[in-house]
Amino acid sequence: MGLHARRACSLLLLLQVLAKPAQNSDFYLSGDYLLGGLFTLHANVKSTTHISSLHVPKCEEYEMKVLGYNLMQAMRFAVEEINNQSDLLPGVQLGYEMVDVCYISNNIQPVLYFLARNDYFLPIQDDYSHYVPRVVAVIGPDNSESTITVANFLSLFLLPQITYSAISDQLRDKVRFPAMLRTVPSANHHVEAMVQLMIYFRWNWIAVLISADDYGRDNSQVLSNRLARSEICIAFQEVLPTPEPNQPPTPEERERLGIILQKLRQSSARVVVIFSPELSLHNFFREVRIWNFSDIVWIASESWAIDPNLHKEMNSSGTFLGLTIQSVSIPGFSSFRVRRSQNQPPPLNRTTCNQDCDNCLNTTVAYNTVLTQSGERVVFSVYAAVYAVAHALHSFLRCNQNGCKKDVVYPWQLLKKLWNVNFTLQGQQIFFDPQGDVPMRLDIVHWQWGTSQNPFLTVASYYPMQRQLRVIRNVSWNTPGNMIPLSMCSKSCRPGQKKKAVGMHPCCFECIDCLPGTFHNQTAEEFDCQPCPVHTWSHQNDTSCFLRRLIFLEWHEAPTICVVLLAALGFLSTLAILVVFWRHFQTPMVRSAGGPMCFLMLALLLLAFAMVPVYVGPPTGFTCLCRQALFTLCFTVCTACITVRSFQIVCIFKVARHLPRAYRYWVRYHGPYVFVVLPTVLKLIIVLANAVATTTNPTYRSDPEDPTVLILSCHPNYRMALLCNASLDLLLSLAGFTFAFMGKELPTNYNEAKFITLSMTFSFTSTVSLCTFMSVYEGVLVTIMDVLVTVLNLLAISLGYFGPKCYLILFFPERNTPSYFNSVIQGYTMRKD
Ligand SMILES: *[C@@H]1O[C@H](CO)[C@@H](O)[C@H](O)[C@H]1NC(C)=O
Ligand SMILES: *[C@@H]1O[C@H](CO)[C@@H](O)[C@H](O)[C@H]1NC(C)=O
Ligand SMILES: *[C@@H]1O[C@H](CO)[C@@H](O)[C@H](O)[C@H]1NC(C)=O
Ligand SMILES: *[C@@H]1O[C@H](CO)[C@@H](O)[C@H](O)[C@H]1NC(C)=O
Ligand SMILES: *[C@@H]1O[C@H](CO)[C@@H](O)[C@H](O)[C@H]1NC(C)=O
Ligand SMILES: *[C@@H]1O[C@H](CO)[C@@H](O)[C@H](O)[C@H]1NC(C)=O
Repeated sequence: MGLHARRACSLLLLLQVLAKPAQNSDFYLSGDYLLGGLFTLHANVKSTTHISSLHVPKCEEYEMKVLGYNLMQAMRFAVEEINNQSDLLPGVQLGYEMVDVCYISNNIQPVLYFLARNDYFLPIQDDYSHYVPRVVAVIGPDNSESTITVANFLSLFLLPQITYSAISDQLRDKVRFPAMLRTVPSANHHVEAMVQLMIYFRWNWIAVLISADDYGRDNSQVLSNRLARSEICIAFQEVLPTPEPNQPPTPEERERLGIILQKLRQSSARVVVIFSPELSLHNFFREVRIWNFSDIVWIASESWAIDPNLHKEMNSSGTFLGLTIQSVSIPGFSSFRVRRSQNQPPPLNRTTCNQDCDNCLNTTVAYNTVLTQSGERVVFSVYAAVYAVAHALHSFLRCNQNGCKKDVVYPWQLLKKLWNVNFTLQGQQIFFDPQGDVPMRLDIVHWQWGTSQNPFLTVASYYPMQRQLRVIRNVSWNTPGNMIPLSMCSKSCRPGQKKKAVGMHPCCFECIDCLPGTFHNQTAEEFDCQPCPVHTWSHQNDTSCFLRRLIFLEWHEAPTICVVLLAALGFLSTLAILVVFWRHFQTPMVRSAGGPMCFLMLALLLLAFAMVPVYVGPPTGFTCLCRQALFTLCFTVCTACITVRSFQIVCIFKVARHLPRAYRYWVRYHGPYVFVVLPTVLKLIIVLANAVATTTNPTYRSDPEDPTVLILSCHPNYRMALLCNASLDLLLSLAGFTFAFMGKELPTNYNEAKFITLSMTFSFTSTVSLCTFMSVYEGVLVTIMDVLVTVLNLLAISLGYFGPKCYLILFFPERNTPSYFNSVIQGYTMRKD
């Protein structure tokens, strides 16, 4: 503290030149306890000339700031009202002393003045706990930069300070600024309200313009920190040029503004957030008007959200939404604002104290209508700040109905009381939260330019305690059809599309259709389509998957009808053959064809033809077993029968002649039947083992040509078994073929070599080609091919083997006699010998 105090000491000289305050002027009211007030009645942009010299500026040379005077009047009004009241501080006269800080150029001098004793000296002490400065508390100043400067001084003395509009988050640091309180929510609430507003209107692509000072930098930092946790991106951020004081824009400044506006024109961001004191914005908006921007939504930070000057200049160049503190009506204030003091103060030495504003009242009168229509927003913050000090004093002085103990007030004692105030003012509960802020509601105001309406119409409200924005009124946009302006880098994707990031912003993306077989749901990952679950499929752009259509052979399909007709034909012809054979059972033709064994074959063939419909319809375990086992078994039995027949014809005589014992066994033990049963049993074992090893339950396969369907088929592994089966059949066929070939010189009656060869070759090649086909193709055609090959194989046996014999029986009955057979055999034997 010593160091700071010494620094303060060096400024004492300066204090000496401050003039004595004017009695009963706008700026001074004597009283038992004085409140210091810091307001901006005149403002000029910050320029180096103001801060480079220890010289108190002449504020009157600057532009007058109507809002600042309005706020100063609020403080005067509050003090007067408290003095008029009998229940708050009865018998105590509050006074005030106010100084124009001229925005930021004049805040050190007034602070030292407030801290000094009545004799203008600020003594250097080790311990200021019993030091009584001129004022008991300071209200203001308005902007964060000045407030931080002032707070640095006041916090050393623990002199209570309540600002009414500085929102900087730095001021939340109560270690640095223990004496600093405020009646506005801090910047993070302002930013939160803005972000929630953007989310509400679905703007996610915004531009940010900031002033080249702490206000712009700090708040844009808070904004970008907040946006990092949201889906809103900053298209670009630019620093507005600082204008020269009291001068028209320089060419450099205009060029700079031109670059910014060009950028804005080229960007798809239609929402612009501006964090800047209103001083830097006049030139900017003048340029905006020239550029004819009418589709932009400007979001005003609290520094310019309700500025009547800017409002007057900007007649509808886009939509203006401002963020400001809630409006609370203060009865009697609007007439007080323009009340002239009855007793004009005597002419005074007004040189450097900046307690002078001759034209303030007259200018304010000119703005009175718009100020009255706007309602009391920041005004209420000032009003509440004064009342907070009054309540703290009331409590400190232990006031009751009769009066107060007019003790000496040490600032730190008052500060303690101030932290604990909790009172109702015009219906608002006023208390300080742990950061020293009053959690006042924030409003989003919409700028209007009608004659008789509120120029700053509230359209939404933000509640700091709940951190929640509630929209209460529709905004009339400056757009055709009153559409909410779009401000997006990329339009949101249609359902069923995924995002593909473009550049580094998550808000910029392309929309890509999800491929068939994948889907995209809003709830899921945005940048990827998810694959469909098994047994389902999707079309391009789908948001969900559908079950695939099941495919199997159906009755009404042409291939089915053909195959079934073929099978019916086979069944009927086999039946006819059976009848013919039955009728001519005892004839040599039938007996040479195998006798009773023919009926076994024909019966099996009939059964097989009758079972062909198991290929039609959705496969089940049973039909799959039939498909895999029945036909091949039937085929094997037939092949075995034919083989044994050929064997008997060709070799039995030789066996009888050379191996009579074997021949006797063959006859006694029904050799042919044993020969047939052996491969049948072997085949049965193979098919059953296969059925057990894989499964006979139907399986689903996707069709490579049409992914929307699913082929319901028997287990595809059965083609392995098919090959295995076929090799057994092949062996049998080869044996049959060999015997038939050996007997090729036999009389035609016995010579079936060519028919057997034909049917065997046919069945073998068809099986092999079926297996080949199945290994390269998986579609539903497989089932058709399978059934077709089966039917053709059966037909080959039925017609190829029995057909010619039947033909002979029916059309050459003379050849079907034992005598004819005998003669043929005799002829054969004679030729052979
Ligand atoms: C205070 O009381 C005086 C005298 O009755 C009155 O003229 C003045 O308007 C009052 N001020 C306020 C702010 O109520
Ligand atoms: C703005 O509009 C006016 C009249 O419509 C036109 O003369 C002027 O060139 C426009 N300015 C720009 C920058 O487009
Ligand atoms: C005005 O100030 C001058 C010097 O700055 C001083 O001589 C004069 O007495 C002052 N007048 C009044 C009325 O205070
Ligand atoms: C303010 O207006 C009043 C009445 O209109 C006038 O008498 C006075 O001279 C004006 N004051 C200034 C400083 O212009
Ligand atoms: C302020 O007072 C009200 C009612 O008297 C009470 O409900 C509220 O909790 C108090 N707030 C604080 C922060 O003490
Ligand atoms: C997509 O999301 C909706 C809603 O959350 C849900 O009902 C639907 O089942 C989802 N679709 C898929 C395929 O998950």
